[in-house]
Amino acid sequence: MCGIIGYTGKEDAVPIIVEGLKKLEYRGYDSSGIAVYGKNGFDVVKQKGRLSVLEDRLKDRMRENKPLCGNLGIGHTRWATHGEPSDINSHPHVGSKNKIAVVHNGIIENYKQLKERLENYGVPFASQTDSEVIAQLAEHYYCGDIIDAVIKVSNAVEGSYALGVMCIDERDTLIAVKKDNPLIIGICDHGNFIASDVPAVLKHTNRVYYLNDKEIAVLREGSVQFFNMDREPLQKNIETIKWSMDSAEKGGYPHFMLKEIMEQPRVLRDTIQSVIMEGENKNVLDNISVSCFNKIIITACGSAYNAGVTAKYVFEKLCRISVEVELASEFRYRDAIIDNKTLVILVSQSGETADTIAAMREAKSKGASTLSIVNVIGSTIAKEADYCLFTAAGPEIAVATTKAFSAQLVLLYILAIRFALRLKILSHNEERELLAQIATLPDKVSALLDKTGSIQMYASTCVGYKSIFFIGRNIDYAIALEGSLKLKEISYIHSEAYAGGELKHGTISLVEENTLVVALSNCSYLYGKIMSNAEQVISRGAKVLLIGSCSDAASAHDSEKLYHISLPHVHEMFSPSLSVIVLQLFSYYVAANKGLDIDKPRNLAKSVTVE
Ligand code: AGP
Repeated sequence: MCGIIGYTGKEDAVPIIVEGLKKLEYRGYDSSGIAVYGKNGFDVVKQKGRLSVLEDRLKDRMRENKPLCGNLGIGHTRWATHGEPSDINSHPHVGSKNKIAVVHNGIIENYKQLKERLENYGVPFASQTDSEVIAQLAEHYYCGDIIDAVIKVSNAVEGSYALGVMCIDERDTLIAVKKDNPLIIGICDHGNFIASDVPAVLKHTNRVYYLNDKEIAVLREGSVQFFNMDREPLQKNIETIKWSMDSAEKGGYPHFMLKEIMEQPRVLRDTIQSVIMEGENKNVLDNISVSCFNKIIITACGSAYNAGVTAKYVFEKLCRISVEVELASEFRYRDAIIDNKTLVILVSQSGETADTIAAMREAKSKGASTLSIVNVIGSTIAKEADYCLFTAAGPEIAVATTKAFSAQLVLLYILAIRFALRLKILSHNEERELLAQIATLPDKVSALLDKTGSIQMYASTCVGYKSIFFIGRNIDYAIALEGSLKLKEISYIHSEAYAGGELKHGTISLVEENTLVVALSNCSYLYGKIMSNAEQVISRGAKVLLIGSCSDAASAHDSEKLYHISLPHVHEMFSPSLSVIVLQLFSYYVAANKGLDIDKPRNLAKSVTVE
């Protein structure tokens, strides 16, 4: 978590950094700060709270005739790990000799030992953070050569880091280095950037270098050089980002989340196209062989895990191959039974989730083949997995994932179909029929998004609930998990998802007068079952929101107690792609009616790059 940015060039760094931080705020929003060079050392403004608080402080500085400005600077937006959110714990951190300033994304695991050692040398620490140790250590090592000091720091610290470093004696130089956290270097006509993610620099450039672990970038106004830890120069390839500037803007929507929900027809079309048109995704699908695997494990976190749970139903139905789905945070420590006949599929929007990275490395170390489904090109999981399929979702800014989740689902369906064909379980005709069903999804999603009125209206009646339950059976249960996560994440209403059949084993005791139960009904052969679950809760006073294409009996129920949102028909296996649209909108409108900060829910960050 945390976002870092740095700039050196012809322009004033401060407004550029503030704009960049706005694009990185999804990574953390406990505090923010900026450092530039002042007349007598560093000039640092840092504040607890949202970026808007920092902006107010910068305006104060203008009014006081002391504007923060300079042609080289670093900025940070924080998701607190060590030390509470406070002004003093905010970044940038400056060493006690006022020589070196640092912004850090990551966790320094051995900071206590390092801090103790430095304190024994008499170094006074100001904050409770692990990050301050980097600035202090760099000053400790610094003997007139900042690159040398940064290399020594990299060798001394354990953990993960993406760093931006300034040194008072080298006012034209910005240093960056990383390990296990993302960092890009952007170049443009007026200057050069470091940033945690592409949207932070997209306004200025789409030309970036992806820094690899333990590579150092040395940026000056007109040059960027790369070195390894032995200080040997490195040649790196520049990449051109295809994302447009608009993709990182709200485009007239009140929230990124709503914009991203609305983008889903396009995202689905592009993702489906990506496996048909010549390119990386098609190559991977054409070349990956499935016959050598006797087991598939899908591992991921949060919504990406829910995409995996959904995909299990599709893979097992189509491929008749055993699929395990496991939370990456559990998988990484479980000593799972895997070998070179196992395919481990990693699903991740960011490609930087620490637990998913660790799960991937664990799987690889045990000889498994790894296939990742990732949205961010150049991310760690995309680079390290044996195969990678990219979701064509474009930058996703809202913390709650929507369009990336939908794109993950579609790629997983297509992967399952392709595997089933290779395994000769599906004929070419059957494959074509299923793909034709998938091809109808963008239009069906579009039709749902054209009629949000009933969802909006129903959601407006739900703001007062303390708890909302989601139920489903079979693949509807999988998507109920995602509906529940989405709701609790942004509306702060407690929520649980249960398999419909499990209700009577305990959960039903939580149902009382006016409890809301959201029931998914897309599995025709289980329609009677889910409706009898709905009746069981209605008879105990609950209200039911029924979402699905199966509905014939819905009208027979008391409409006070049961409200039905109908979905277009599609093959049951692909129905989650439609259900999830309603679930996303429902959560969005509940949270909007509560007036919450939807794009930045409390305590969360989009990329969870720490354990
Ligand atoms: C989803 O809305 C969440 N913000 C979260 O669960 C997310 O899916 C999870 O952190 C995984 O992130 P990733 O896809 O970037 O790996």
